Amino acid sequence: MDLKLRGRTAFVSGSSQGIGYAIASALAAEGVQVTLNGRDAVRLAAAVERLRDEHPRSNPTGVVADFTKPEEVARLIESLGEIDILVNNVGLFGLAEFESVLDEEWARYFDVNVMSGVRLSRHVLGGMLHRGWGRILFISSESGVNVPADMVHYGMTKAAMIALGNGIAKLTRGTSVTVNTVLGGPTYSDGVAASIAAVAAGQSISTESMKDAIIGQNRTSLLERFIDPAEIASLVVYLASPLASATNGAAVRADGGVLTAMI
Ligand SMILES: NC(=O)c1ccc[n+]([C@@H]2O[C@H](COP(=O)([O-])OP(=O)(O)OC[C@H]3O[C@@H](n4cnc5c(N)ncnc54)[C@H](OP(=O)(O)O)[C@@H]3O)[C@@H](O)[C@H]2O)c1
Repeated sequence: MDLKLRGRTAFVSGSSQGIGYAIASALAAEGVQVTLNGRDAVRLAAAVERLRDEHPRSNPTGVVADFTKPEEVARLIESLGEIDILVNNVGLFGLAEFESVLDEEWARYFDVNVMSGVRLSRHVLGGMLHRGWGRILFISSESGVNVPADMVHYGMTKAAMIALGNGIAKLTRGTSVTVNTVLGGPTYSDGVAASIAAVAAGQSISTESMKDAIIGQNRTSLLERFIDPAEIASLVVYLASPLASATNGAAVRADGGVLTAMI
C-alpha cells in the first residue's frame, strides 16, 4: 500500500532508540525525510547512521537536545525547518511509590513528557495550517487511561498528552491538518529491555523469565507478549499518512488489548 508520504518531512522526539527509532524508521521507509533526536550525541549519531543504512535514500538528520533544558529546546526549535509530521514521542517512565515522588520529579516528568509536546506543537502548528497539511502525533500510553498505582506521576503525564492531542485538534477545523494520540501498551523497547535486564540480573533470573512474569501479571493483555516497537510504528505511520484524513482528535490504541473497555 502506498501511504502517500514520499517527500514529507518529520521530526520525532526521543528517537535514537526504542519506539521513537521504530517510528523514524517506518517513516523513512515511506520516503519521509526524518530528523531524529536524543540527549546522547554518540547514540544519536549511531541511530542516524543506522537509519541511513536501512533506508539509503531517506537522508536522515539528528539534533541533540535534552527536553529538561530550556536553552537546548529553544535551539532545537530554532533549527527545525518546515515540519510536515511531528511525533511527540519522548517520554520518561519508571515505577515509583506515590508518596516518594517529590515536586522536582513531578516537574521533570511534566517537562519532558508534556511540555516537550506543547513547545514543539506550538512551533509547528502555524506552518502546517498555513501550508494546508500536517500531522501532529502524541505517543501516549494505556497508562493515561488506566493509571497504574505504582506510576501515578507517569500516568498523569500520559493523560495530559491525550488531552493535548484532543484540544489542539480543535484548532485544525476545516483544514487537512490532524492531531491524534496513540495509546501504546507494554512494548519491548530498548529502554524497557534495559530495565528488565537490570531487574532480572538483580533477582538472578533470566530475562525471558522476567518478561514472562511481567506480561503474565498483566492478565488483560490479549497479545500475551510484549509489543514490538515496530507494531506501534505501523499505527503511527498510518495516522501520519493522508489515508487517515478522517481521524482527528482521537486516541487510537496499539495496546495489545490491555485496556478492557469497549471504547
Ligand atoms: N515501552 C513501553 O512499554 C511504552 C508503552 C506505552 C507508551 N510508551 C511511550 O513511548 C515513548 C518512548 O518510550 P520507549 O520505551 O521507546 O523509550 P526508550 O527506549 O527509553 O527511548 C527513549 C528515547 O528518548 C530519548 N530521551 C530520553 N530522555 C530524553 C530527554 N530528556 N530529551 C531528549 N531525548 C530524551 C532517549 O535517548 P537519550 O537517552 O540519548 O536521550 C531515547 O532515544 C515514551 O513516551 C513512552 O511513555 C512506551
